[in-house]
Amino acid sequence: MDFFVIDGGRPLRGAVRVSGSKNAALPILISTLLTDDECAIHNVPELRDIRTTVRLLELMGKRVSYARGTAVVAAKARLKTRAPYDLVKQMRASVLVAGPLLARFHRAQVALPGGCTIGVRPIDIHLEAFKRLGAKVSTEHGDVVLSCDRLSPGAVRFRFPSVGATENLMMAAAGIRGTTVLRNAAREPEIEDLGIFLTRMGARVTGAGTSTVTVEGTSRLHGAEHWVIPDRVEAGTFLLAAAATRGDVRLVGAKPAHLEALLEAVRRSGAVVTELPEGLRVRAPKRPRPVDVRTEPHPGFPTDLQAPWMAYMALADGKSKVREAVFENRFLHAAELGRMGARIRTGGERAVIEGVPELLGAPIMASDIRAGAALVVAALAAKGQTVIQRVYHIDRGYERLEKKLRALGAQIRRAH
Ligand code: UD1
Repeated sequence: MDFFVIDGGRPLRGAVRVSGSKNAALPILISTLLTDDECAIHNVPELRDIRTTVRLLELMGKRVSYARGTAVVAAKARLKTRAPYDLVKQMRASVLVAGPLLARFHRAQVALPGGCTIGVRPIDIHLEAFKRLGAKVSTEHGDVVLSCDRLSPGAVRFRFPSVGATENLMMAAAGIRGTTVLRNAAREPEIEDLGIFLTRMGARVTGAGTSTVTVEGTSRLHGAEHWVIPDRVEAGTFLLAAAATRGDVRLVGAKPAHLEALLEAVRRSGAVVTELPEGLRVRAPKRPRPVDVRTEPHPGFPTDLQAPWMAYMALADGKSKVREAVFENRFLHAAELGRMGARIRTGGERAVIEGVPELLGAPIMASDIRAGAALVVAALAAKGQTVIQRVYHIDRGYERLEKKLRALGAQIRRAH
């Protein structure tokens, strides 16, 4: 199994291009199940969750060619309506096939998801909403089976603005004739991007990116072409790595409007963030000041940057707090950071971080995508050598991470 060897303590300097968004590309690729026409999706990052999605689409009966960031998805055989456990357990977002399949074939069978080790992560919000549109839900041998005579458009109010449930329901609603209104919807930029793609396919989606999304669907969706938005989580991770190493980095393609809560926190910590025509620049000449954050659905501070943020705050000049209000059990990185000398106490959804003047390299282990990213941030800033095991978690979500970091002057290599 691959591991990273990082010799830390070097400020990152230079420019890095932000890749296409993984979390936007996943539902957009999956929504090609709504048509037999060809769809071309560009700016798709080359990473493990995308390869899993391509395999999932192929297994469902699609033909996919994927090269140099473009995925072309076309019909090959009659589509299957079952997503097997083998893939769903690797990637929880596989559950998103339910919406398109239910709309088109009135049936979807999806293994109950596994995915990251960050809390319980049920899919009850998805299922409740499908029921509202007329689906019946049962479980069979570890699979959830959704079925209906016909899915009907209607009004849905989510009990929590779940990203996946909003996407799943938008896709289902796009594929059925009539108007569906989703209230208390997630407002993430990736939802907006999916709305644009579904509109290009022939549905009419308004309000995506706000808490009320209206979808006028049609049973005749057609092929479409799309460019995926830049990855705000990758951009945020590089930004924090630059700040933690007291570097000076330009993030080419980063969209400040997608990163407001992070930028505010980073500025309060004393780093200088400037908007450039081509993206963002971050400079961090000094040790960070402590800043408290609380994760929330967008536009709040993103849970996906909570772990890298904690790595940054581990080096702050004082005590800061983190409250993780989106996922349970998303502090697995704290103990690993502790092995590098960080002083972090966690309890329930709260963490208290006593900043230390320096972290020291150590052998450590990634436990999920973003926890892994946090360890990379810490290792880049730390004195001495860090070996990070279980890099496959990081590979799920970051495109060519070590190459991009090396171009910024980091000493990082992959070994196995
Ligand atoms: C998506 C992102 C993930 C990000 C998360 C929150 C993708 C592929 N993944 O995940 O990177 O961390 O949004 O921004 O886009 N919940 C329920 N019942 C449900 C659904 C969710 O209780 O039916 C809970 C979850 O357990 C979690 C919270 O709601 O505590 C947020 O989940 P959700 O917004 O659905 O996240 P994902 O779509 O899984």
